Amino acid sequence: MKIARLPLARLTTIGVGGEAEVWTVETLADLKAATQAPYRVLGNGSNLLVSDAGVPERVIRLAGEFARWNPNLSGWIGAGALLPSLLQASARLGLSGLEGLYGIPAQVGGAVKMNAGTRFGEMADSLELVELYHDGRLEQYRPEELGFSYRHSELPQGSVVTRVKLRLTPAGVEAVRAKIALVDAARKGQPKKKSAGCAFKNPPGEAAGRLIDAQGLKGLTVGRAMISHEHGNFLVNLGGATAAEMYTLIRKVQALLPLEVEWEIWGEIAPLAEVSR
Ligand code: FAD
Ligand code: EPU
Repeated sequence: MKIARLPLARLTTIGVGGEAEVWTVETLADLKAATQAPYRVLGNGSNLLVSDAGVPERVIRLAGEFARWNPNLSGWIGAGALLPSLLQASARLGLSGLEGLYGIPAQVGGAVKMNAGTRFGEMADSLELVELYHDGRLEQYRPEELGFSYRHSELPQGSVVTRVKLRLTPAGVEAVRAKIALVDAARKGQPKKKSAGCAFKNPPGEAAGRLIDAQGLKGLTVGRAMISHEHGNFLVNLGGATAAEMYTLIRKVQALLPLEVEWEIWGEIAPLAEVSR
């Protein structure tokens, strides 16, 4: 186990966030030790906006036995495994089930917690079993027991996803690759700049990105934070953005549109008082 104070800007895809004490756990004994004081669980940091002041809680990162998986995708898969690596394996093996998750830069644990997905499929669809650590013990759950819906799960309070079993079906390499190509094509309009994916959930039957675009908000900039010209629901870090700048952009959008934030916000972030367009 490693314990170090690190800037979370380095551990999040948007590249924003102050320091925290990061506990990198490799065994169940490590996890037990790490959870003896208030904690948060970090996945790949791809849906997080962390305060510039960091967070006071321990930040747990999964490594070692929690990141292990069998290259044929059978058996238990550590929650610290990266979805893009599993996608690559499933394409090579011709196993269908994960294609809808193509392009999502998550760890398995973060994808379970957020029920990450696209209109082509979501994490919950391909889960057979989920193992959670909470209240000092490991327990197995069927996906029906975890209250999955659009970008949402109801894991017991304080749960750490430790590993999962996937439900995949043999479909052949060609079929799997063809479906991945469809999902890839649907993502072509998304920016490559540093982000945490879509900032807002889509309201039922609508697309937040379209609504933001229709308000003429693309290109709106606060400091080094900007609403992407490519996609209205991507708030990007132009390099050196602060959490306060990113959060001010969120509030500016919400002043005009009743949108629910999809990002997880860690710590206290106050919007900047006065910002010009
Ligand atoms: P983090 O961002 O690290 O954490 C997110 C939440 O999960 C936090 O509450 C954290 O505490 C919790 N968590 C993480 N690991 C665990 C664990 N092991 N046990 C318990 N809780 C845990 N999302 C989509 O749904 N669809 C998309 O198409 C999509 N596209 C994206 C594209 C880009 C370029 C980027 C940067 C992001 C995109 N996202 C998308 C957002 C993001 O990838 C997902 O929300 C993803 O599920 C976050 O996973 P993560 O491992 O990065 O979790
Ligand atoms: N649109 C605009 N202007 C924009 C952006 C989009 O008019 O600036 C329009 C598009 O033309 C399209 C519609 O809005 O008609 C939907 O856009 P898109 O196909 O890009 O999908 P989305 O609803 O914006 C969703 C997910 C993405 C996921 C894609 C791919 C949400 C909030 N977003 O985006 O997930 O990658 O579909 O299927 O559900 C994420 O959750 O972080 C995320 C990136």
